[in-house]
Amino acid sequence: TFARSFSATAVRNKVNNVTVIGAGLMGSGIAQVSANAKLNVVLVDSNEGALKKAHSSIESSIKRVAKKLHADDAKAQEKLVAETIGKINTSTNVGDSVKNADLVIEAIVENIEIKRKLFAQVEEAARKDTLITTNTSSLRLEDIGKNLKDKTRFGGLHFFNPVPVMKLLEVVRHTETSDKTFNELVDYGKSVGKITVACKDTPGFIVNRLLVPYMFEALRLHERGDASMKDIDIAMKLGAGYPMGPFELGDYVGLDTCKFIMDGWHKQYPDEPAFSPSPLLNKLVDAGKTGRKSGEGFYKY
Ligand code: NAI
Repeated sequence: TFARSFSATAVRNKVNNVTVIGAGLMGSGIAQVSANAKLNVVLVDSNEGALKKAHSSIESSIKRVAKKLHADDAKAQEKLVAETIGKINTSTNVGDSVKNADLVIEAIVENIEIKRKLFAQVEEAARKDTLITTNTSSLRLEDIGKNLKDKTRFGGLHFFNPVPVMKLLEVVRHTETSDKTFNELVDYGKSVGKITVACKDTPGFIVNRLLVPYMFEALRLHERGDASMKDIDIAMKLGAGYPMGPFELGDYVGLDTCKFIMDGWHKQYPDEPAFSPSPLLNKLVDAGKTGRKSGEGFYKY
């Protein structure tokens, strides 16, 4: 068995082949930064249209990067775009796409049942040493990976939107994630230019765990009539140095997304006061006022 485990490690010294499943907002960004780091990428989506859209959004995003890097050199710009795009293959077939993967990153819809189904397919088709990860924002890894046979190679890679711009990557370990897996995920993160932080499998990890309850606390302050939304936003920008106030941030993220995250946590931890829902937020979302994307949320746009 020594020979076998030796050859297993000999197969992969580092992550070279990355399969990203889900070609939406996050998946296309993750594919882009991976390709930009010269890794081989397969980008997978069940929807052919999403793959087409991802391809063109990645292309225009790399063009912007290339223009900044090589302002006076059109040839160098073209080369960078062609090289990066050339690293990304697309597919609608999960099984085929993960066969050769060193690392699988799941970035599909935030739905526990659909994610579980996908991970069963991935584990079935991937090599035994393939790292399997999720980009979930609000679900517990323990719940998503519940049916995995080997949980030691499963962990979280939580990127931030927009992926090519945001420097942070939260690397998440649940109780069974091995040190080897965790270290390899950190190495991957560094290889794609991110600053990594480590976090356990706790709701919201670091950033969302602090940010989402903060936003709801601002809502409670406003709902009690203690201060106006506008003044709370001004106060947090000028008094705490935040680039956006909590209501501006909520409109930017999307009030439906904020509600979805908080409802999920509240259901799981009904006695946690930091996770209690907001009547004002619920009313706005019910009325279709979901923030910037709908033209109105806390503010009108
Ligand atoms: P999105 O809606 O833009 O993209 C999801 C994609 O997954 C769609 O193209 C859809 O066709 C595809 N998909 C759905 N089910 C699939 C399946 N079974 N197999 C293959 N493809 C499938 O979603 P977004 O915003 O990119 O989010 C993806 C994940 O990333 C979620 O888990 C979310 O919580 C997480 N996340 C989102 C952030 C954000 O700011 N939007 C930030 C960090 C994480």
